[in-house]
Amino acid sequence: MGGLSMNEAFVQAPEHRPKPTVVEASGIPVIDLSPLLAGDGVDALAAEVGAASRDWGFFVVVGHGVPAETVARAAEAQRAFFALPAEGKEAVRRSEAEPLGYYASEHTKNVRDWKEVFDLVPRKTHVALADGQLVFDNKWPQDVPGFRESLEEYDAAMEDLAFKLLELIARSLNLRPDRLHGFFKDQTTFIRLNHYPPCPSPDLALGVGRHKDAGALTILYQDDTGGLDVRRRSDGEWVRVKPVPNSFIINVGDLIQVWSNDRYESAEHRVSVNSAKERFSMPYFFNPASYTMVEPLEELVSEENPARYDAYNWGEFFSTRKNSNFKKLDVENVQIAHFRKSLGA
Ligand code: OGA
Ligand code: NI
Repeated sequence: MGGLSMNEAFVQAPEHRPKPTVVEASGIPVIDLSPLLAGDGVDALAAEVGAASRDWGFFVVVGHGVPAETVARAAEAQRAFFALPAEGKEAVRRSEAEPLGYYASEHTKNVRDWKEVFDLVPRKTHVALADGQLVFDNKWPQDVPGFRESLEEYDAAMEDLAFKLLELIARSLNLRPDRLHGFFKDQTTFIRLNHYPPCPSPDLALGVGRHKDAGALTILYQDDTGGLDVRRRSDGEWVRVKPVPNSFIINVGDLIQVWSNDRYESAEHRVSVNSAKERFSMPYFFNPASYTMVEPLEELVSEENPARYDAYNWGEFFSTRKNSNFKKLDVENVQIAHFRKSLGA
């Protein structure tokens, strides 16, 4: 069951609770990337990705070239990990000094999420900060055979896909195809394994509270249970993203919003839970080097369309987010809105 028991820490304010009726998201673009594998149709695909990023901030990809077995092995490792007895998970629990591994106490906007997670990085990652250095190093569970190998294989496949998507996004903004690649030389990418156990009060709690992803791109695997809700741009309604077999859900994060100078917008989303069935998902958060100064790209800034954000340091932003979450600071988490310039007037 994941050892969670319902209490007031999980209860969302009334205006943020899920409604009893679910609205299925019709119209979220489903983009078939198979023309890329054949080496043609790049411009048409870039146009589709651009329209989806502008209108939804979310899209589904199929024909992406990631082998089904790679996904199945990673998903199997994920299930086996969360099925471990409590001691097995405790052995790889994260701490403030070692931020990767297992934990079940994440808060989004200071309300506890109904989930347990395991975080890992593709490679040991150093984040240099004004006041020192953070090192992200993996903890590997001992009792799950093949865990490390399956996730390393999954990561390699995700990285390939992430760079393809990055190229399509660059093309869609009329930039050089590799314009954004340089930011990812020393990436701070991480993978999160999410387990949402059945919840006795799905009307009060959320698996993940409403939020926007802070990084560049998120590539999400979800199982066939369903529960990801996106706030639809046209009317502000929460709509459910229906699981599509052999697909990934892509969302553009805050960094692409800033780089694109608001041509694309990072969409708000959340996870609803249910009382009958556990759910598994695996987001791959594609993030740039910690020393990246994030600001609108100069090609997308002009006199008529001035920069809408002040530059900020990605590493500081990222670690403040992680830290405020860890300590459950009683403040609104840091948001890109803090860097928005006040224009006009
Ligand atoms: C997240 C997230 C969605 C899901 O972890 O940031 O939005 O379906 N997850 O688990
Ligand atoms: Ni998210």
